[in-house]
Amino acid sequence: MTSPRIAPFPLSRPRRLRRAPWIRDLVREHELSVRDLIWPLFLIDGVDAEEPVPSMPGVSRLTVDRAVEAARRAADLGIVCMALFPRTDPARKTPGAEEAWNPDNLVNTATRAIKRAVPQMGVMLDVALDPYNSDGHDGIVRDGDVANDETLEALERQALAQAEAGADILGPSDMMDGRIGVIRRALEAHDFQHVAIMSYAAKYASAFYGPFRDAVGAKGALKGDKKTYQMDPGNTDEALREIAADLEEGADMIMVKPGMPYLDVCRRARETFGAPTFAYQVSGEYAMIQAAAANGWLDGDQAMMESLLAFKRAGCDGVLTYFAPRAAQLLEGSA
Ligand code: PBG
Repeated sequence: MTSPRIAPFPLSRPRRLRRAPWIRDLVREHELSVRDLIWPLFLIDGVDAEEPVPSMPGVSRLTVDRAVEAARRAADLGIVCMALFPRTDPARKTPGAEEAWNPDNLVNTATRAIKRAVPQMGVMLDVALDPYNSDGHDGIVRDGDVANDETLEALERQALAQAEAGADILGPSDMMDGRIGVIRRALEAHDFQHVAIMSYAAKYASAFYGPFRDAVGAKGALKGDKKTYQMDPGNTDEALREIAADLEEGADMIMVKPGMPYLDVCRRARETFGAPTFAYQVSGEYAMIQAAAANGWLDGDQAMMESLLAFKRAGCDGVLTYFAPRAAQLLEGSA
């Protein structure tokens, strides 16, 4: 028998539970699953073509037929939901954003095609006018301001066209006051009771959306900024008020956006409401990790997985991320 060692030695040794992979696996508190991921995808007109987005290395805009193929591959990887965004032909952008409720616009066409080919795939569509608006704003511009209530009427039309096309989840991302109530009532009145709303409830006026605006071609069009409707980055109590209002108006799920810089908001939202809570790891967050990885400054896969796990730790049920296919490969062990 070895003779007893004499103090001072630590009695509490957290390292005991870190000694080997199996015990780290055993005691891990939070885990990311492929079923936590929503994959945002960009669409373009045309057939059998794609177009890389320069500010989002690894991301391309796809024609509808290729988006269907992508949906098949995503389903094989275990991805359960995709969010579709259009790069609208500039010739179809107008100050009234009428293309937003064209039943045959890119997102509606792609939704029908994906639901036909891969019925088990959830399809989410953004309710906001910016991809269709020649002013680049999420709402209709009158006298230099985004007109709230006039925009609500447009959003209602857009939402109904999207529900008609077969969207499972509508994601109002426009930040107009009262939009969730208007959209919920319209869906109920038109027999779309089953269509869920994931409200972009706490959406901040953020510099991290830059690459997305490139991807949908809204950057050149945008006059000014979105600070009169998106939230001020200094506020968190206000985020809780926005979320409370949206839940009250009929949102089924809520979202915080951007993600990584606003994990505190995710945590407060989850603890205050306990409603299904999502974060959007936005284009700029994706671009930062990809740029650093491309320079060899960090391990891209590891940084990606760590960043996604952070959302689970912050209390989110899931995350919208452009990394979804790559993360799914790693999670499913088919990398
Ligand atoms: C449109 C919308 C935006 C994003 C999602 N929906 C851009 C914006 O508000 O300017 C950003 C997503 C991203 O950056 O990845 N309202």
